[in-house]
Amino acid sequence: MTIKKPVTAATLLRAKQNDEKIVWLTAYDAASAQIAEAAGAEVLLVGDSLGMVFLGFDSTLPVTLDHMIHHTAAVVRGRKHAWVVCDLPFGSYQKSKEQAFESSVRVLQETCCDAVKIEGGEHMAETIEFLAERGIAVVAHIGLTPQSVKKFGSYAKRGKSEAEQKQLTRDARAVTEAGAVAMVLENIPAELATAITAHVEIPTVGIGAGANCDAQVLVWNDLLGISESNPPFAPAYANVRDIMTDAISRWAEDVKSGAFPK
Ligand code: KIV
Repeated sequence: MTIKKPVTAATLLRAKQNDEKIVWLTAYDAASAQIAEAAGAEVLLVGDSLGMVFLGFDSTLPVTLDHMIHHTAAVVRGRKHAWVVCDLPFGSYQKSKEQAFESSVRVLQETCCDAVKIEGGEHMAETIEFLAERGIAVVAHIGLTPQSVKKFGSYAKRGKSEAEQKQLTRDARAVTEAGAVAMVLENIPAELATAITAHVEIPTVGIGAGANCDAQVLVWNDLLGISESNPPFAPAYANVRDIMTDAISRWAEDVKSGAFPK
């Protein structure tokens, strides 16, 4: 797909129907949005991974709606055609569907992004339906849901037992019927992701979910080799951490020695 026209929810649905893969990547500021889009990312996800990879928190739980709005507005300023999705952070939508609506309205009005993403399956279906009926594009996120890390105790793969697989299949069906426009499948067995992708009408976006999802997403810092360590399913395509360290240390040496400025 070439990025000439703005990407929309309809573009993503058409791509699924035409068996065309879509490229999602996280972005957290205007520069990363510009680079990602110029390199072929069609959807920019301002994930609440922001908290861990940019803000120095040890989970996504401390991320606030204000953090998300600040960074999503910057990504929107940097994009030309890409579809921009903002994660609703922990505590900004779980209390009630009305709370989710108010948080989504703030995000959409203050950032001009295209969609919100919320974690949860069957138990969030009523909320997704409430938002979708009011014209909000919602991306669901099932499988490993990092905002529930304290409940599960780890970021381990989900859907390993038959019971979990059945629940995830119900989750996928429920968010689809509720009106989600796409769903992220995080860290689940590839066979399960393949089956879900074949059975739902909306695009699936895989991260650690095998090759057969309709789209793939990675975290900016993992893809570029900026993170200190990557999850096993996220290979680094470059070693930008080393490149940055090398450039800064050569410049620092030049400052110390008086070689900079010339
Ligand atoms: O927060 C995030 O970056 C995400 C992706 C890992 C899907 O939710």
